Amino acid sequence: MKLTVNNLKDTEQVGKIIARCLEGGTVLCLDGDLGVGKTAITQFIAREFGVEDYITSPTFTIIKEYEGRLPFYHMDVYRIDSEEDMYDLGYEEYIYSEGVTIIEWSNKIEDILPDERINIEIQRLNDTSRIMTIDGRGRVFEKIAEELKNYESTGN
Ligand SMILES: Nc1ncnc2c1ncn2[C@@H]1O[C@H](COP(=O)(O)OP(=O)(O)OP(=O)(O)O)[C@@H](O)[C@H]1O
Ligand SMILES: [Mg+2]
Repeated sequence: MKLTVNNLKDTEQVGKIIARCLEGGTVLCLDGDLGVGKTAITQFIAREFGVEDYITSPTFTIIKEYEGRLPFYHMDVYRIDSEEDMYDLGYEEYIYSEGVTIIEWSNKIEDILPDERINIEIQRLNDTSRIMTIDGRGRVFEKIAEELKNYESTGN
C-alpha cells in the first residue's frame, strides 16, 4: 500500500498507528534516501511504544537498545559492509527476541532479513511531504495495513 504524508505531524500519526500494532518479535525495515525521515518516524514509533529515552541515530553504534512496553532495538546498518558483520553484532539474538527491531537501510542486509517483516520505503516529494510504500508479510503487517487503511479513509 502507498500512503502520502504531507508533514511531520502526519508522519507522527502514522508512527503512532504502527506503534500500537507492534508485537514481540516484530521486525520493521525502513529504507529511503539520506535524510528522508527514517529516524524521524522511528522516534514517533518509539515514543508511542513507551520508550522514554530520546532516540538518536545509531549510525556509528549500529544497534541501540531501549525499553518500551517491550525491548525496542533500533539499528542503522548504513555502515555495514557485509552481512557477516551483523552476525558478529548479535543480529539474530535481536531479531528473534521478544523485542521489536527497527532497521534503517535494511536493503543493505536484505539477504538476512526474516521473511516475516514489515518494509517501509520512504520517498521525498518536497520539504515536508513523503510517500510511504508499505509491504510485508505476517500478522503484524496485516494489522498495520488494516489500521492504515482506516487512517487513509478518515483523512486525518
Ligand atoms: N513528513 C516528514 N516525515 C519525516 N521527516 C520529515 C517530514 N518533513 C520534514 N521532515 C524532516 O526530515 C528530516 C528527516 O531526517 P531523519 O534523520 O529522520 O532522516 P533519515 O532518513 O533517518 O536519514 P539517514 O539516512 O541519515 O539516517 C528531519 O529533519 C525531519 O524533521
Ligand atoms: Mg536515520
